[in-house]
Amino acid sequence: MKPETLKPETLKPETRNPETRNPETLKPETLKPSSLIFVAGHRGMVGAAVVREMARLGLRPPLTATHAELDLIDQAATHAFLAHHRPDCVIVAAARVGGIEANRSALGTFLYENMMIAANVIHGAFKAGVPRLLFLGSTCIYPRLAPQPIPEDALLSGPLEPTNEGYALAKIAGLKLCQYYRQQYGVLYHSAMPTNLYGTGDNYHPEHSHVLPALIRKFEEARTTGAQEVTLWGSGKPRREFLHVDDLARALLFLLQLDDPPDWVNVGSGEDLTIRELAEQVQTAVGTRCALRFDTSMPDGPPRKLCDTTLIRSLGWRPEIPLPDGLKRTVAEYRAELAADTLRGN
Ligand SMILES: NC(=O)c1ccc[n+]([C@@H]2O[C@H](COP(=O)([O-])OP(=O)(O)OC[C@H]3O[C@@H](n4cnc5c(N)ncnc54)[C@H](OP(=O)(O)O)[C@@H]3O)[C@@H](O)[C@H]2O)c1
Repeated sequence: MKPETLKPETLKPETRNPETRNPETLKPETLKPSSLIFVAGHRGMVGAAVVREMARLGLRPPLTATHAELDLIDQAATHAFLAHHRPDCVIVAAARVGGIEANRSALGTFLYENMMIAANVIHGAFKAGVPRLLFLGSTCIYPRLAPQPIPEDALLSGPLEPTNEGYALAKIAGLKLCQYYRQQYGVLYHSAMPTNLYGTGDNYHPEHSHVLPALIRKFEEARTTGAQEVTLWGSGKPRREFLHVDDLARALLFLLQLDDPPDWVNVGSGEDLTIRELAEQVQTAVGTRCALRFDTSMPDGPPRKLCDTTLIRSLGWRPEIPLPDGLKRTVAEYRAELAADTLRGN
């Protein structure tokens, strides 16, 4: 079927819920406690935080499917799942995600898988008459040398960071698909652009993790082995911003309650620090005082990445978990998961 024939109102009557499927009559802007929300990627760090936040808000338990139950790269299966369940809303928190090394060594996989997940879920939701969808972009998809702090309109204004270009291209396509479907068909599909996240359920894989969980792992290992020195990738000079994933989950549910959300909006703490400063904060949370050595043969990534959070703050959201508090909590969770042998990426 051609997309132009896929207007929700042309779906077969038996596939439509007359009360909620017609974008003309539906008020998709309001998330009701009874709304059925499909959280794609509910076992991931972001998806799991969204599920916890939904429970905290007293919302209906979400529709979920594990990767094994539903491979979102499989277009037919994804479209059939959405047509069968016809959720009121979809949150796209499924993606192939990784740090610099994982990204740069598999640019093709990151491009292919993320492009397929985005296209299959967004178009499948549209075909199923889903009126509202929130897609997860990332501040990694802004140009490498975007103005700092990065405003939303910096998107597509310059060359991308080469080490994660595949991931970025796929995410930009997903974000634009939401914007274009909103313009073309009137569905309320929009995106959030989180900064670097950390917290509950993070991935501590030695090669595939992001910088903050990698630091927690390194300093925890140094603490338990009594190592006096820790080697970190890169120069330690790049500046980065971090947001606890629970703050992001609050932001996502907040955005889903807006009548007219921005097509994409940054979600960050609004504060950055150097990797060296971050390492010192992690040492404080862990309780180590190791000497730091920087392996400058490893790539740094962009020199600075801080997002401009003026827009989301003006809408009424702000972060609540300061970095030192979030780090303390995350280190405690790391230790508990390690002891229980449930640490992700171990
Ligand atoms: N983490 C960050 O710092 C960060 C920052 C900005 C934006 N984001 C965005 O937030 C979203 C979620 O990231 P995250 O950190 O929560 O990642 P994550 O912890 O790796 O979770 C991703 C989830 O997606 C699932 N998934 C991957 N491929 C799938 C497929 N083909 N079919 C079905 N499920 C699939 C994974 O399941 P399996 O584990 O079973 O494969 C996992 O549950 C992503 O879009 C990411 O780009 C993350």
